[in-house]
Amino acid sequence: MSQETIPLAGVIGSPVAHSRSPQLHAHWLKTLGIRGFYIPMEVAEADLETVLRTLPKAGFVGVNVTVPHKEKVMTIADTVTDRATIIGAANTLVFRRDGQIQADNTDGYGFIENLRRTAPDWDPKAGPAAVLGAGGAARAVIAALLDVGVPEILLSNRTRLRAETLQQDFGRKLRVIDWVQAGNMLEHAATVVNTTSLGMVGKPALRVPLDGLQKGALVTDLVYAPLKTRLLEVAEEMGCITVDGLGMLLHQAVPAFERWFGTRPEVDAAARAATLR
Ligand code: ATR
Repeated sequence: MSQETIPLAGVIGSPVAHSRSPQLHAHWLKTLGIRGFYIPMEVAEADLETVLRTLPKAGFVGVNVTVPHKEKVMTIADTVTDRATIIGAANTLVFRRDGQIQADNTDGYGFIENLRRTAPDWDPKAGPAAVLGAGGAARAVIAALLDVGVPEILLSNRTRLRAETLQQDFGRKLRVIDWVQAGNMLEHAATVVNTTSLGMVGKPALRVPLDGLQKGALVTDLVYAPLKTRLLEVAEEMGCITVDGLGMLLHQAVPAFERWFGTRPEVDAAARAATLR
């Protein structure tokens, strides 16, 4: 007689209460009729390894990892995918049956998939991309853009040294532009991405001058609260194609859900609505 097991997953971070992933995965579990659970777990760095080694023994099939643990989990995992290695951080862990922990990063996949689905005519090879910010999110975005053939990436960050480090890691296709001149790079960009937290509810506004935005360029913001940031608002007025950041969150979750629960979920209006609830 086979015994039913209830698969468990979740997200580990600190803080973690703001995460929208629990609503999204709960929606998919419910609509797909899977008897599993996805829960937020507040874990301090000192406890991270103990928790990760214990969860598989309690029925967990994997977890998402968020701030500030995305880099640390790479040193705990037994295997790391190539894309997580390139990015230098993991957002998805799979607990394998043999007890091994595999670390992966699906942020870049989510970023590109969101653009492709929302703006099917977007051609990454059409011209340079301008990226604002050089944090962890920027690493995933840059790796993904290079992977789909963007010819050049203009990169600007308040702390120039961080952008220069990215240039060293990703190579000649990256050009660092001073933060005070960030607006100038928009004139040359076919794709524009904000990876900073500027423009998010409770954070300062993005003050980069936007009058250089080109009509027809694709403009996307990783900030999704508010959904329509000032960057997207201005870009829309200037005739750009705009894509909001919520889709990246939804799409990065797809491969994780599929690995853990065995079914590929749909990113549709209902999933978007559930995530915003
Ligand atoms: P994430 O992993 O989400 O990218 P992060 O590593 O903390 O988070 O990066 C946040 C990004 O927002 C960085 O590019 C940061 O610039 P710095 O490297 O100079 O810190 C950018 N950012 C945050 N607050 C900012 C501000 N007030 N002005 C300009 N850039 C800011």
